[in-house]
Amino acid sequence: MVAPTFVLQAGCFLGLLTCNTPPGVWPEERPTVIFPGPPNPTQTQTQTQTSTGVTTGTSTTLTPDPTVPTVTTTATTATTATTETPTITVTTTDTTLTTLPSPSDSSSGTSSTSTDSSTPGTSTGTSTGTSTTSTTSTPGTSTTSTTSSTSMSVTTTTTSLPVATGTLTANILVIARDSTQANVASSGLNGYGIPWTTLLVPQAGIELPTLNTSSGGNFGGIVVAGEVSYDYGSDDWRSALTDDQWNQLYAYQLAYGVRMVQYDVYPGEKFGATALSGGCCADGVEQLISFSDVSDFPTSGLRTGAGVTTQGLWHYPASISNTATTKEIARFAAGGGVSQASTAAVINNFNGRQQMVFFIGFDTVWSDTSNYLQHAWITWITRGLHAGYRRVNLNTQIDDMFLQTNIYQPAGEIFRITTADMAGISAWLPTIRAKLNAGSTYYVEIGHNGNGNVEAGQEVVGDDTCSGGAIYYDIAPDTPAEFQKPLGTGESRWPTTPASFQWTNVCLNADPLLVWFQTHLNDYAYLSHTFTHLAQNNATYADITKEISFNQAWLQQVGFTAANRYTSNGIIPPAITGIHNGDALRAWWDNGITNCVGDNTRPALLNSQNAMWPYFTTEAASGFSGMQVNPRWSTRIYYNCYSPACTTQEWIDTSAGTGTFDNLLATERTETIRHLFSLSHDGYMFHQANLRNADMPSITVNGQTAQYSIFQAWVETVVQEFVRLVTWPIVTTTHQQMSDAFLQRYRRDQCGYSLSYVLSNNAITGVTLSANGNTCNAAIPITFPAAPANTHGFPTEQLGSDPVTVWAQLSGSPVTFSLASPIAL
Ligand SMILES: *[C@@H]1O[C@H](CO)[C@@H](O)[C@H](O)[C@H]1NC(C)=O
Ligand SMILES: *[C@@H]1O[C@H](CO)[C@@H](O)[C@H](O)[C@H]1NC(C)=O
Repeated sequence: MVAPTFVLQAGCFLGLLTCNTPPGVWPEERPTVIFPGPPNPTQTQTQTQTSTGVTTGTSTTLTPDPTVPTVTTTATTATTATTETPTITVTTTDTTLTTLPSPSDSSSGTSSTSTDSSTPGTSTGTSTGTSTTSTTSTPGTSTTSTTSSTSMSVTTTTTSLPVATGTLTANILVIARDSTQANVASSGLNGYGIPWTTLLVPQAGIELPTLNTSSGGNFGGIVVAGEVSYDYGSDDWRSALTDDQWNQLYAYQLAYGVRMVQYDVYPGEKFGATALSGGCCADGVEQLISFSDVSDFPTSGLRTGAGVTTQGLWHYPASISNTATTKEIARFAAGGGVSQASTAAVINNFNGRQQMVFFIGFDTVWSDTSNYLQHAWITWITRGLHAGYRRVNLNTQIDDMFLQTNIYQPAGEIFRITTADMAGISAWLPTIRAKLNAGSTYYVEIGHNGNGNVEAGQEVVGDDTCSGGAIYYDIAPDTPAEFQKPLGTGESRWPTTPASFQWTNVCLNADPLLVWFQTHLNDYAYLSHTFTHLAQNNATYADITKEISFNQAWLQQVGFTAANRYTSNGIIPPAITGIHNGDALRAWWDNGITNCVGDNTRPALLNSQNAMWPYFTTEAASGFSGMQVNPRWSTRIYYNCYSPACTTQEWIDTSAGTGTFDNLLATERTETIRHLFSLSHDGYMFHQANLRNADMPSITVNGQTAQYSIFQAWVETVVQEFVRLVTWPIVTTTHQQMSDAFLQRYRRDQCGYSLSYVLSNNAITGVTLSANGNTCNAAIPITFPAAPANTHGFPTEQLGSDPVTVWAQLSGSPVTFSLASPIAL
């Protein structure tokens, strides 16, 4: 599945290195000239694209069913300009779902829509091994470049001491074989919002980008995936970067104090380590990996000794061969043919050249482990000083409150949550909060349907006292999920009266559940799930206006709008309908609704450019443009279940689940931990029936037994795993705050911001933030390992043991922050 079992043959370097000197180890403290010869004049034409910025983003989404994953991978397209970014070579190829490159998978070079073959040998490409053609995926700038592998860029690079003064752009250079691998290497950077540039290296090789100019270094860190190695035949697996090019990278590192990260590599002298086995693990064999020393990246907040799975990630147990240059940061547990614990990752310091190395493959698309481990290298390579920030949100939304639910099992049962159940949830909140790390906030957000309150009230006091009763109508047949209604069509379902909200408190307060919420108002967050839960895909403007405005009137009358946490501008659409119904969206908008949550199982509702961005509806797909749809994860806690047996059975029946409720929770744990460590800020969907606890048997989660609802069991499972792995806070936000954060993230990414380090006396003494035109209509976060000397009055954010984030506003000029204490290079 991952990590080809290759061994990179350590070659000899040209010129001043002797053949028994491993790559990356300098024979003397400071190399002066790496390549004494002139540039190779035989190099063929190379077109360089003058990229003006940051290549950001990819969006990858899995369905909640892990056994039949539908992977949607979307090519990177966002290229935005910055003022300070130097000329660089950016060559990207089309997205492919394959992870193993083949010698013949270069694209035809005639179109930016060509695709790579996923099977070696089946490509129709014209590669002969001496040249390859790649196309860019940047819209409107498609560039075809041809390079020859036999005439790689060879430049004379001289270096002496690290630069004493100058600037270093903090942009991370990501070097990978193809866009799939590049996405794995950069998805974490994207999660933080750290700018990066991708260099894709085809088998035939490619020119390096300009690493520095007279004004400074262009990259603040270099990440190389799998040494960009290929199979050149006859057991010859080696890097498509030439030794010359590796040396240029090393010299650049030394000149600017830039760190390199490598993963998916075989232990060897160039990493100060020796392999202890041929690699691990066969199917079904488990060998946990854990951090053993995080002292070189303290702001990562990673806990040592917390083992996580390596299943599906090929890796090489190692031992350190040179303790003078190399220290262990992570280890594998005994196993995989090795009887004791072994080294999994190291930091090298080869006479000042600093390198972090993982002897394990990464795949952030599906692996919770990769998403977790990546925070070590991201924090280390940036020295904890970077644009962007790290925040984990745990937003659990409970839909359908006040409604009744037809239960899946026992079939035919109708269930509505009781005040005793809600009391059980409120009583549990302090106990779950006590398990969170310092700086955390957790609460539960509830999506309400006011008509259910009227129905319950009329059961008690009768229709007359309830203004004739609740709203009833004939339910329309379901449409396909992405049905787009022609504007102006559809039939209204609501009765013609009442024309406006008219129920009295005598009616509403007859429902004990309402009174309970009113007396526990600030235990929860509140938003609308529409008044009756009418399906909106084929609905009329008139009906949806009532669905929105009646519920707003109800929320106001019962006092929920006065709660500390109330969302006024967003809704949870009923069953996530209406998003392609321009009449419905216009009704929302006319009533002050600018955003909603979507459904991550539906690609049509996701931003295909960047998973960190919300989706905005378009005239073409929805008949209404600009409604903000924020992503939300579904879970295996199904809407129509309150018992472990029910949700487990529904998982088995509908989603190829197997095993017990414990297996279901373990699957949810894996998937949710992956989302949280990818820094996905998407919320999680639950429903009122999932809260039943008061009369339910106990559930045991990680050895702790309590009368948990299946919702609580899910939260306990996720939280206990999260705090085992990191010291980070978990922060719940209201729907309105979540939506605004998605919008701000989208806006600041349009600004093409970048950070550069101010260098002085072999140390970073400050950072300068700039952007296109040095103006941005959203604040840009900058994370500091310690508070800067002066924050210029910008808001700062620091929770628990987290590093401090300054939210800087650019309004016409770059902004420079001096560090309180310099960071030595
Ligand atoms: C890059 O850095 C090296 C070493 O400091 C220097 O000799 C060289 O002139 C720089 N390149 C440019 C284009 O300024
Ligand atoms: C939408 O509603 C119209 C009018 O009631 C109906 O004719 C049509 O079949 C409905 N479309 C779908 C997909 O349900």
